[in-house]
Amino acid sequence: MPQRTMAVALNGSKREVAVADHTLLSEMIRGLGLLGTKVSCDMQVCGACTVLLDGRPVSSCTTLAIEAEGRSVDTIEGLADGPRLHPLQTAFLEKAAFQCGFCTPGMIMAAKALLAERPSPDEAAVKHWMDGNICRCTGYETIVEAVLDAARATRP
Ligand code: FES
Ligand code: FES
Repeated sequence: MPQRTMAVALNGSKREVAVADHTLLSEMIRGLGLLGTKVSCDMQVCGACTVLLDGRPVSSCTTLAIEAEGRSVDTIEGLADGPRLHPLQTAFLEKAAFQCGFCTPGMIMAAKALLAERPSPDEAAVKHWMDGNICRCTGYETIVEAVLDAARATRP
């Protein structure tokens, strides 16, 4: 299958990546060894594959890799600052807002975009923003609490 090389800023690092026209963003990311981005439904329903494209959350399972050409892509692997976890990661740990953890990277990336756009969301805003991210085992109470905790921790 013919491939072409495109430039992308992946977690802040400039990369040259070979992709075919039909390569999905999720395939590109996971093919580079970044396995934190999960794929479940493969049809933009569950949110497990959520990454940030120029800071906006997208389902990488239904986004073509070439759409990311010349743009920034952020995945869960880029969130921590060395050994220092991002406040969202800390809050999810402290609230035990996961069981199997499969949905967690997508949840956290979606929440990161929320806090960038709205640093002080209330509970209703968190629920509304996150309604495209499905968790099949934890329930949503601790997830919403974790996002609100992280908002308090990061508020300017
Ligand atoms: S795997 Fe992409 S939305 Fe479910
Ligand atoms: S923690 Fe298992 S699906 Fe959400």
